[in-house]
Amino acid sequence: MGTPEYRTCPYPVYQSLREQAPVCKLTTRHGVDTYLITRYEDARLALSDPRIGKDMHEGIEIYHAVFGDTCDALDDNLIFADPPRHTRLRHIAHEAFTPRHVKLLRPRIEQLADELLTKCPTDTPVDLMTAFALPLPVMVICELLGIVGDERNDVLKWFGQVTRSRFSKEMGDELAEAEHWLRNYFLGLVARKRAEPADDFLTVLIQTEHEDGALTDDELVSMMWVLLFAGHKTTTYQIGNAVYSLLSHPDQLALVRADRGLLPQAVEELVRFECSVETSTFRYALEDVEIGGVAIPQGSLVQIAISSANRDPEKFAEPDTLDVTRKGLQSTHLGFGHGPHYCLGAPLARMELETALTALLDRFPEMVLATPETGHEEWLKGPFPAFRGLEKLPVALDPSRTVDDWTATASG
Ligand code: HEM
Repeated sequence: MGTPEYRTCPYPVYQSLREQAPVCKLTTRHGVDTYLITRYEDARLALSDPRIGKDMHEGIEIYHAVFGDTCDALDDNLIFADPPRHTRLRHIAHEAFTPRHVKLLRPRIEQLADELLTKCPTDTPVDLMTAFALPLPVMVICELLGIVGDERNDVLKWFGQVTRSRFSKEMGDELAEAEHWLRNYFLGLVARKRAEPADDFLTVLIQTEHEDGALTDDELVSMMWVLLFAGHKTTTYQIGNAVYSLLSHPDQLALVRADRGLLPQAVEELVRFECSVETSTFRYALEDVEIGGVAIPQGSLVQIAISSANRDPEKFAEPDTLDVTRKGLQSTHLGFGHGPHYCLGAPLARMELETALTALLDRFPEMVLATPETGHEEWLKGPFPAFRGLEKLPVALDPSRTVDDWTATASG
């Protein structure tokens, strides 16, 4: 694991694990023992097993071992919570994330996608990650949270600093400074919204009452942080993976081009086939548990290999084949997780993926990969170990106009 071959294609490794060590004990780079679950049925059960918890307050020593001493207010959110705290946070988040709010965003997402594609040159190759897949979800999540204008660039700068520092273990003053800046910024945003409520997502988040109380300011800050984090890289890499998968499977692309009605199920298949979330977030055993015949001692970390479960032949016929006509995937693949921590933003992510692919297919129906070898080197090298995505995706949007010397002109 971690070799260039593994990065490019981890699936043979996962196949061996499913066959020979489906619940496999690994040691994380932080030196903590983790049990990695690779088979579909075990994965699905583990994702909803109440004996496998996530609450960082209970498991604070384990979290400190993994994340250093940075488990602070920003992390006090639903990703690191168990019932009843998780139930309350999730209930309030759900009120704000209604289908109505998500639906209201569609025209704006279409407009943003259109604006980004209008700026792309067609006479030279374009790195679709930089030009499209990265900015679109960032703009969408910022709009949802009410982060507008120049403030957006500041937020993204400090956000990038927090994520880089956390994942690279450089947890010094820089990290503290960035976390401090973001916390104060989010508090200011909440104060402004309290003073001027509107018909929007943040107002609902602030005003929703639960029987155990509305969100406190600290909880609001953590919620905004987790939405920014969870709603951004995931969707960026998923757009890239989806476009790459279609362009490298022209027969499947042709099917979608010929029948746009296939798009919703194609999106599910694209998430199953090449999911941007390779492994789940960390959990830990609240008591001794047995999964797939393996005893997991209380206190051990547990991670679910989503990319492996989604390619398990016991669940999906010919799992290594991309087939956009597969049916019934929405309730089976684990690309958005399963159980109480099922992706809160799944409806938004699905809509963003559909909108992004529609915009690309409408405007650039002949688009091709600019370099045939794309995908061999570009798979993410880090610093986000749980994600699977491309660092670059050079495409010729209109091959009839694009100059021949693609590799020389592809820019990042
Ligand atoms: C294609 C894009 C996305 C993918 C593949 C994805 C995938 C996932 C997965 C697998 C989980 C479960 C993690 C676990 O149980 O360990 C999750 C949780 C979550 N996702 Fe997403 N996600 C995407 C987009 C989004 C968006 C756009 C948002 C919000 C705007 C979002 C917000 C969340 C939140 C808040 C959670 C935690 C839910 C909880 O713990 O109760 N995600 N996502």
